[in-house]
Amino acid sequence: MVDFPSGRVKKLHIKTYGCQMNVYDSARMADVLAPLGYAPVDAPEGADLVILNTCHIREKASEKVFSELGRLRPLKERDGTMLAVAGCVAQAEGEEILARAPYVDVVLGPQAYHRLPELVARASRGAGAALDTDFPVDVKFDHLPAPSASQGPSAFLTIQEGCDKFCTFCVVPYTRGAEFSRDGASIEREARQLVDGGAREITLLGQNVNAWHGTDGEGLGALVRRLARIDGLARIRYTTSHPRDMDDALVAAHAEEPKLMPFLHLPVQSGSDAILDAMNRGHTADHFRAIIGRLRRARPDLALSSDFIVGFPGESDDDFARTMELVREIGFAQAFSFKYSPRPGTPAALIERQVPEEVKDARLAALQALLKDQQDAFNAATVGRTVPVLFEKPGRHPGQLAGKTPWLQAVHALAPATAAGQVLETKIMALAVNSLAGVIVDSSVEAGERRSA
Ligand code: SAH
Ligand code: SF4
Ligand code: F3S
Repeated sequence: MVDFPSGRVKKLHIKTYGCQMNVYDSARMADVLAPLGYAPVDAPEGADLVILNTCHIREKASEKVFSELGRLRPLKERDGTMLAVAGCVAQAEGEEILARAPYVDVVLGPQAYHRLPELVARASRGAGAALDTDFPVDVKFDHLPAPSASQGPSAFLTIQEGCDKFCTFCVVPYTRGAEFSRDGASIEREARQLVDGGAREITLLGQNVNAWHGTDGEGLGALVRRLARIDGLARIRYTTSHPRDMDDALVAAHAEEPKLMPFLHLPVQSGSDAILDAMNRGHTADHFRAIIGRLRRARPDLALSSDFIVGFPGESDDDFARTMELVREIGFAQAFSFKYSPRPGTPAALIERQVPEEVKDARLAALQALLKDQQDAFNAATVGRTVPVLFEKPGRHPGQLAGKTPWLQAVHALAPATAAGQVLETKIMALAVNSLAGVIVDSSVEAGERRSA
């Protein structure tokens, strides 16, 4: 640990891009800097240290870093604000950041966060920009402090990092490194700390979260059951999973463990076997259908989410039609869909038959229209029903709280502030713009999670 000379509270602003793993990492960076006197603030203006926690997944995400750095530069020049770039762009393009934005003080990859105090101290001594993009993933979790209790009723917990799957379009195996599973005991310890700090729901995170395995070879199903025994923990979720790692024990946990919520984000990317093969996904569309079949038999009210890429190199009209067919057949409660974005260093970026931009646009519009219809229909079907809602935080209007149904639908309802952190039976009255409008039916008794008919 490094001692800082001044006892003054220093202001820390972290801006987070990308996936939930980055959200979790941002919280841990704040934790690791807290003992040095850094307290989080909402805006970069007036901050002593600004960290951009970046995402490399698509070109647009990646380019945001440089435009944001351009905006922050005057702050640095005026107030001496220290600038740090963390996350996946830092990992992939550390040297380029220092070349394009030499005023940046610290560049650190996702596996170096425990060394943040040291790097910040070095930069503040004027020792030049500090770059750390090493890959000691096993060391990181051992050296980060216990998480602060600041996550609220719904908390994230990273249990797995990295990816060995090398889908041909994806940068993650390069930015996050090989698959690594944290050990079960340290995960349970962190989960208990989160629950002691007020968490009622924990979302287990990993780039391939269902590739998690313990030292005795147990998988995610066993871990879910282990964590479900924690008193006070009401809900467990996990994301993002891969179809290839969906084993019987995990499917069985969906059938048997009531704390495991009936919602699953399982990316499929495409409905065409030729494209799935070119993507190196390691499964066919029918394999995905079969997995969904097993899951739905295990948990009939399971709501599904997925990721899709349109315009992967070589994708024909017929390939795309198969994606639409798969979506129509399965039915998703929500989904994310993207135009293929060629990423430097990935095999697919070198394929010559790239799909023209206007074709990608048209396919994305068609797919998103279909997915939106499915999402609207799914939400509409909840209206009139009474469902357990975990209330998390103040809603947009005074007197309201916002929360989630078991199927991850956002709900708002009039509720006393004391209802935050409780699971309450709530009647869904109407569809609002981005959430469901509900009325708490019985606020005196905490609702048990139950299955829908
Ligand atoms: N590990 C997860 C997803 C990680 S990235 C999985 O295997 O599914 C999140 C999503 O971003 C991916 O599911 C994919 O749909 C999208 N994505 C990744 N690389 C992309 C690229 N080069 N262009 C467009 N979308 C991409
Ligand atoms: Fe990327 Fe594929 Fe790994 Fe997911 S499984 S992180 S899409 S390489
Ligand atoms: Fe982006 Fe890195 Fe997550 S590339 S999606 S922040 S793992």
